[in-house]
Amino acid sequence: GGAKKPAEAAPKKTGEKTTVAIEVGDGLAYNIKEIKVKEGATVELSIKHTGKMDKTAMGHNFVLLKKGTDMTAFATAAIGAKDTGYIPAAMKDQVIAHTKVVGGGESDSISFTAPAKGEYQYLCTFPGHYSVMNGKMIVS
Ligand code: CU
Repeated sequence: GGAKKPAEAAPKKTGEKTTVAIEVGDGLAYNIKEIKVKEGATVELSIKHTGKMDKTAMGHNFVLLKKGTDMTAFATAAIGAKDTGYIPAAMKDQVIAHTKVVGGGESDSISFTAPAKGEYQYLCTFPGHYSVMNGKMIVS
């Protein structure tokens, strides 16, 4: 590990809850390209693969990146990180929250606190997917 960036202050939990239901399938697409949440809200996010293809061929995940993270660099590093669910160990500290990789018929759900106000990028880090499978989380 190199020098650490200064830690962003974590927002206080507000007690508000937001549910986000992402669906993916046998193509390269999220059903949601923009997620809006309030700072400090508890985000309960699920990802459901409604397709039939196995995760080794058409796996998808949801990875929410910290501000300032280079999405292309992250996705490129992720290609070699199959054993860790396509989350590169060296860049793990750039991730706010992520699901596991799901294949046809599978789903996963996570819960995290919405970060400070601003825009954040999310992507699927399965090799070759991020340039189409990405979106924005807008925190207000
Ligand atoms: Cu994908």
